[in-house]
Amino acid sequence: MESNRGRAHAHVIVLGNEKGGSGKSTTAFHLAIYLAYEGFRVATIDTDSRQQTLTAYVTNRRERARQLGIKIPQPTHFHLPQPRGDSRTANDRAVFEMFRSAIAEVEGYADFVIIDTPGFDTHLTRLAHSLADTLVTPLNDSLIDLDVIGRIDPETGDIRELSHYTRLVQRARSERLNIDGRSIDWVLVRNRISMLGSRNARLVLTGLENISARVGCRIADGIAERVIFRSLFPFGMTVFDPLDEEMLGGAPSMSHVTARQEYRALADALNLPLASRRVAGQRGEGARMSKLEETAA
Ligand SMILES: Nc1ncnc2c1ncn2[C@@H]1O[C@H](COP(=O)(O)OP(=O)(O)O)[C@@H](O)[C@H]1O
Ligand SMILES: [Mg+2]
Repeated sequence: MESNRGRAHAHVIVLGNEKGGSGKSTTAFHLAIYLAYEGFRVATIDTDSRQQTLTAYVTNRRERARQLGIKIPQPTHFHLPQPRGDSRTANDRAVFEMFRSAIAEVEGYADFVIIDTPGFDTHLTRLAHSLADTLVTPLNDSLIDLDVIGRIDPETGDIRELSHYTRLVQRARSERLNIDGRSIDWVLVRNRISMLGSRNARLVLTGLENISARVGCRIADGIAERVIFRSLFPFGMTVFDPLDEEMLGGAPSMSHVTARQEYRALADALNLPLASRRVAGQRGEGARMSKLEETAA
């Protein structure tokens, strides 16, 4: 949808799942770098003030570029630091205000805003979800992870009960509809898929299909389990970066190539509004560093 300023709104992608370790931060960073390589202005916001994995990813990348003396695509990054005051209410308010000003700041120039969320339910998590145009939920390939969305009958794959997180998303969706009449495109992505097909994996798929029919979300082809992700993180690299030994900090492998294909397929499956942002981007001003980031870093 175009704003009355004649420029497309920043498209907001939220990574959410109430479970840690499912691949939210890794996927957030990969999507950010993918879009940056495509020439878009990308802002990233890390709302996980405890783990700050996305912030570490961005910092590692900047450090790597500096070490090698090269220029590589970088997002404009914001992170919400853990407030240190005594009053919980005051802390919540401070973080909330920071988030609001980060959003207000990036709205004006970013083509895409990518928000990473923690594996727990906070006021901020809920707010972030209601801002999503696209909500991406990575799920590890097991029934335990499916529980984050809904309880599945282990025999039949039928849904017994929707989860706390699914209800959170449903509330965010109806809030969003009330606020600006827009809907949230919710996409479940299987992550760390094991190469070995199993009865369990088939049940997960059946469960996912049942869930998507029931709650109105989509399922994208997933990302396989690969050890390269462990070695990419400390250098702030992604599968979208050149297959260069010096940059990657190790010899590139076939794994990089296939993982890149999978991530590109995922980006395609998200149906992001690339064409309209491309036109808007040619009119906009260049990305700038944020005041908030300078004070928060
Ligand atoms: N496709 C994958 N294959 C192997 N390891 C992965 C994959 N995706 C993520 N990981 C690893 O899983 C761990 C958790 O990922 P992370 O993105 O931090 O999850 P979350 O943000 O949901 O807690 C990290 O060590 C990351 O490197
Ligand atoms: Mg994370």
